[in-house]
Amino acid sequence: MGREPALIISVLNNKGGTGKTTTSVNLAAAASLEGRRTLLIDLDPQGNSTTGVGFEKATLGSTIYNVLSQTRKIQETIISTKFNGLSLLPSNLDLASAEVELSSTPGREYILREALAPVKQDYDNIIIDCPPNIGLLTLNALVASDLVLIPVQCEFYPMEGLPTLIKVMDVVKSRLKAQFDFRIVLTMYDARTALSRRVQSQVWNTFGERALKTVIPRSVRMAEAPSKGLPGIVYRPRNPAAERYKTLTKELFRIPLTTEA
Ligand SMILES: Nc1ncnc2c1ncn2[C@@H]1O[C@H](COP(=O)(O)OP(=O)(O)O)[C@@H](O)[C@H]1O
Ligand SMILES: [Mg+2]
Repeated sequence: MGREPALIISVLNNKGGTGKTTTSVNLAAAASLEGRRTLLIDLDPQGNSTTGVGFEKATLGSTIYNVLSQTRKIQETIISTKFNGLSLLPSNLDLASAEVELSSTPGREYILREALAPVKQDYDNIIIDCPPNIGLLTLNALVASDLVLIPVQCEFYPMEGLPTLIKVMDVVKSRLKAQFDFRIVLTMYDARTALSRRVQSQVWNTFGERALKTVIPRSVRMAEAPSKGLPGIVYRPRNPAAERYKTLTKELFRIPLTTEA
């Protein structure tokens, strides 16, 4: 794996509840299980990725908020998790004020990219769990990314929101000189419902090879895992959704990326 800079993946959808955090936590855990040195960045003030890998938000020292507001070095803020090869840049509600506080900083969209520069060589992958909106935090994630992974819940018509998100990504590429490719992953698939099947064919027809072939099924165990402070793939490794997250991780790292639109 050498000393190449980490592949930076943002997990993003401006809708809430589409499986961003579940995908980020399980992708990060699966990557580290494969022996990849992985940094999970919680970029959501809700801090669900932070609790999802076993930390109490109330007892954190410094957080990503301190890194973005440049009061702490990133190296002093990254913490090791109890999972081998997996580190975390944690978050809590402090981050909620960052959007406003950073809005007048020159180069405000590039703060995360610059903050990551000194640690990029230390990891094979950096996975960023984004907040459910397209604000300054999300723009920072996009600018820093090589790949954007968009989880789409199989219970809504994704074509209502996805074209807007993809337009925003194109604007970020051209206006902010960012370079990233994107992939779509279907989550919470329920084979018994016609809606799940319809969403799947619509997304596959529209996005072709950018829609990942591995689909994550709905599973109660996945929803239970965060309450134990464990990634689903650790909590119930044989569960169908857990198995799929491991397959998804392999599929994702196999694909050659193109950064052209
Ligand atoms: N495959 C799944 N099966 C069942 N529940 C899931 C699955 N993926 C996510 N969930 C649950 O759905 C809710 C939203 O997921 P989450 O990952 O937090 O989405 P987001 O970060 O996009 O808001 C959470 O309660 C989560 O536990
Ligand atoms: Mg989330």
